[in-house]
Amino acid sequence: MTDQTLQVRLGEPSDLMAVDRIERASFDDPWERHLLLQELVPSSLRLPLIVEFGGEVAGYLMAWRSGPELHILNVAVDPEQRRRGLGAALLEAALAEARRGGMISVSLEVRRGNRPALEMYRAYGFEEAGLRPGYYADTGEDALILILPMKAD
Ligand SMILES: CC(C)(COP(=O)(O)OP(=O)(O)OC[C@H]1O[C@@H](n2cnc3c(N)ncnc32)[C@H](O)[C@@H]1OP(=O)(O)O)[C@@H](O)C(=O)NCCC(=O)NCCS
Repeated sequence: MTDQTLQVRLGEPSDLMAVDRIERASFDDPWERHLLLQELVPSSLRLPLIVEFGGEVAGYLMAWRSGPELHILNVAVDPEQRRRGLGAALLEAALAEARRGGMISVSLEVRRGNRPALEMYRAYGFEEAGLRPGYYADTGEDALILILPMKAD
């Protein structure tokens, strides 16, 4: 029987090779390796999360703690492992961290035409807060700014 265990943990520099592979498989304009590496060093600013599926790195989420806001910079799941709940697990872990840190909101930018990502964010209550016209240099596509206000428990 194949191992279906899903685990979210903090990222670290040794995740670089796997993260770089998933980044290149996921985006036409992937981040350069040195930028990915920079984000894989957890700090008071940087929150890198890794999801493992069956013991293998299968996706990641990178965020910055920016004052009272958690800003999500990048999320991707291995194309072979999508639609198994891994993206949702990463997002939930980031939201839990924002809640633990007493943050007031979580924000991100997403391509207007990125339906899978938009559906995922909307399912978690993110709302459109603005538009950056022509934000993405490779295609000139607009970015939607999405925000999720954190409710105090
Ligand atoms: C966006 C992404 C991270 C989602 O990861 P995933 O592991 O496939 O997502 P999940 O299986 O956890 O799905 C969570 C929800 O997202 C939505 N969703 C995910 N993929 C979808 C698709 N292809 N079409 C429509 N909705 C989709 C659904 O609401 C889904 O919930 P459901 O399965 O109960 O219907 C993944 O598609 C990806 O890596 N895309 C390429 C990189 C990218 O665009 N990143 C976002 C940058 S802002």
